[in-house]
Amino acid sequence: MSANGYQYAFEEPGKFARGWYIVRFSQELEPGELQALHFFNQELVLFRGTDGRAAVLDAYCPHLGAHLAGTGSRVEGSAIRCPFHGWQFNAEGACIDIPYARQIPRRAAAPGAVRSWPLREQSGYIAIWYDEEGGQPNWDLPAIDVWNTEDWGDWVFNRAIIKAHGREVIENVVDAGHFPSVHGGVPLQFDNIFRQYSVTQISRIESRPECDLIQPGNFPIDFSAMRDMREEHATDAWGDATYHGPNVMYYFTESRSEPMSFQSWWVNYHTPINNEEIELTSGVIVASLDERPLPAEFKDMYPRSAIAAFSQDAEIWRTKVYQPNPILCDGDGPVNKLRKWYERFYLPRQHEVWDEPETPISSIRD
Ligand code: FES
Ligand SMILES: [Fe+2]
Repeated sequence: MSANGYQYAFEEPGKFARGWYIVRFSQELEPGELQALHFFNQELVLFRGTDGRAAVLDAYCPHLGAHLAGTGSRVEGSAIRCPFHGWQFNAEGACIDIPYARQIPRRAAAPGAVRSWPLREQSGYIAIWYDEEGGQPNWDLPAIDVWNTEDWGDWVFNRAIIKAHGREVIENVVDAGHFPSVHGGVPLQFDNIFRQYSVTQISRIESRPECDLIQPGNFPIDFSAMRDMREEHATDAWGDATYHGPNVMYYFTESRSEPMSFQSWWVNYHTPINNEEIELTSGVIVASLDERPLPAEFKDMYPRSAIAAFSQDAEIWRTKVYQPNPILCDGDGPVNKLRKWYERFYLPRQHEVWDEPETPISSIRD
């Protein structure tokens, strides 16, 4: 229960936010491949037809209930064939073939005979739309146009399953106070801008030797050595981290220093597996900011260090609890405002309205 006795909808177990969820990067699914997915406490099947189109269907066949990603199931053309009696379903979830029947029952032939999830594949990822009320998407994730161009290449990513709720992850976007203890730096600028379907953090972080940092257990990377290297080059890192909806964050960053200047895009997302666990994934692409090409070792090392930075946060998330009524100080970011913003994705759609001004809120105290 929060302050004033109010309980947010996202505090109720078993509810998931309405919005887009990334389920896989495109590179993880070849044409003709299928995979079982388990998200939102449900069994799903993801497949890509030989025509290249990806689809996500509920996993259980509407005939007699076999798992569509079970042993013996396969992709044929742009459809998936059930392993039990061989019924074939297309990307819309309509049955298009029954090998032993003269006629396909009307209910089976209709799109959605097995539920097909709204899906977008763009910028190198596959996202599906979750809506408890069954509504269609009413906003989109923006494209990252530079993805897979010659300078940038494809996502380098890392994935972990952790015991946490999305509300713990998203609060990071307004958390100005954790940089000196978790990431080894001090924010010189930290502004948040709230819009109806997105919330942005604009930050400039200066790395400082007197700050602490967390060494993620699962990531063999020497942060202290990296920090020393950065200090020699007096790096200035500017970034725009924007949550597009409640689950997917894009982080664009620019960094200028003497030996090299670079820009990067990160896509960090969390997708709930069940009431207790989320799949936490971080993908990175990086390119030079000027005409000087980036050294190959740097291009190799940077995504690893970026992913490790996200893992620093994950180290906290995996053991923390949610504080419904936190004691906050004047150097903290707008945590309660963020909760109010996030809450709307758990309420019926008519509560989505957000009419607060788009004025940046700074969390830097002089
Ligand atoms: S259970 Fe799928 S075809 Fe019979
Ligand atoms: Fe963080």
